Amino acid sequence: VSLGVRSYPILIGKGLIEAAPQHLLQHLGGARFAIVADEAVGALAETLGTGLAKHGLLLGPTCFVPSGESSKSFARLQSVCSALLDLGLERNHAVIALGGGVIGDLAGFAAAILKRGVRLVQIPTTLLAQVDSSVGGKTGINAGQGKNLIGAFHQPSLVLADLSSLKTLPPREFRAGYAEIVKYGALGDAAFFDWLEKNWERVFAQEEEALTHAVEVSCRMKADIVARDEFETGDRALLNLGHTFGHAVEAWAGYSGKVLHGEAVALGMMLAAQFSHRQGLCDKSVPERLGAHLANCGFATSFTASGEGNAANLRSQIGALPTVRELLHFMEQDKKVRDGQMTFILLRSIGQAFVARNVDRGQIASFLEGQLT
Ligand SMILES: NC(=O)c1ccc[n+]([C@@H]2O[C@H](COP(=O)([O-])OP(=O)(O)OC[C@H]3O[C@@H](n4cnc5c(N)ncnc54)[C@H](O)[C@@H]3O)[C@@H](O)[C@H]2O)c1
Ligand SMILES: [Zn+2]
Repeated sequence: VSLGVRSYPILIGKGLIEAAPQHLLQHLGGARFAIVADEAVGALAETLGTGLAKHGLLLGPTCFVPSGESSKSFARLQSVCSALLDLGLERNHAVIALGGGVIGDLAGFAAAILKRGVRLVQIPTTLLAQVDSSVGGKTGINAGQGKNLIGAFHQPSLVLADLSSLKTLPPREFRAGYAEIVKYGALGDAAFFDWLEKNWERVFAQEEEALTHAVEVSCRMKADIVARDEFETGDRALLNLGHTFGHAVEAWAGYSGKVLHGEAVALGMMLAAQFSHRQGLCDKSVPERLGAHLANCGFATSFTASGEGNAANLRSQIGALPTVRELLHFMEQDKKVRDGQMTFILLRSIGQAFVARNVDRGQIASFLEGQLT
């Protein structure tokens, strides 16, 4: 990721957690490390901690955090900060975040504020974190008022995406992360989207070559976009393809686990593609192709329509549907809405997304009306 003095490498491959001491020595020479880890990855934390201790690089015992979104809280931030200070964390030390996006966001924010900022190493252990949250420097926690409302930009110094860590990831979590991979193809790389249509089963089977390619292309695209627009004043918004609709669905479901983030994004991308077609911005083959691929992978691609094969709709997945009013309510709480005009990421074709800043609320309402009946 090219950001001048804040540039950093992303290493992708199998066995990187075992080889972590040598990579940390190479890229963060002179530092010692405190590990913050998800309770679900105890075995990986053990491997990492033992390796670091052998090289005299470990500050102390791993700080374990309970799994799940509720750990992105002030209370948990406080206990993590306190544990890291108890270990004797100094400004020249570094925090390692070992886990999914929850741990990356929480431990990353702790690193951003402890001693006014210590270095951060992201070791993402979910597919979503490897292709998305570990790269780009957004860190933070949730507020009662909404998700990710308290945080800081704090770029990591190194990202180690160890593909072998994904072996224990529940298949549903793997698939949810894959939605973000499809997003990169849909928003900016038609050839990659073609490749995914042909190779997705090899990615899901975690074949090394295919999985490496999928993670690498995704990270490169995120890195390029972040390098162009680190603080999201322009182009970085493209990464929100599917997220305005998706966040509304997640918020309506109460972040309950009934709909995972990636599942909401898959449905949200479909809605963005269908809305784009309805506005005359793209050919109908765009929503058709996107929908066919997402349905093949097992995602719900509509609220109500009965799909082909194993494709479910959202109603059959969670047994209820939001109303148009509810969805609009949550969209309006989103940071992307101002004065009845909504910002959406829309599609001209597969691989060509753009930021549409003046989408009329009424048109969204009537579109959703059609989708929900
Ligand atoms: N900072 C960013 O740019 C950014 C981008 C996207 C998402 N996010 C945030 O990321 C979070 C979602 O991330 P996520 O999908 O990784 O969720 P997560 O961190 O909750 O992980 C998903 C589940 O997998 C478990 N898990 C993690 N690694 C595992 C492994 N190797 N084996 C078995 N189980 C494992 C976790 O315990 C959890 O139950 C959200 O809070 C979201 O806001 C941040
Ligand atoms: Zn996302």
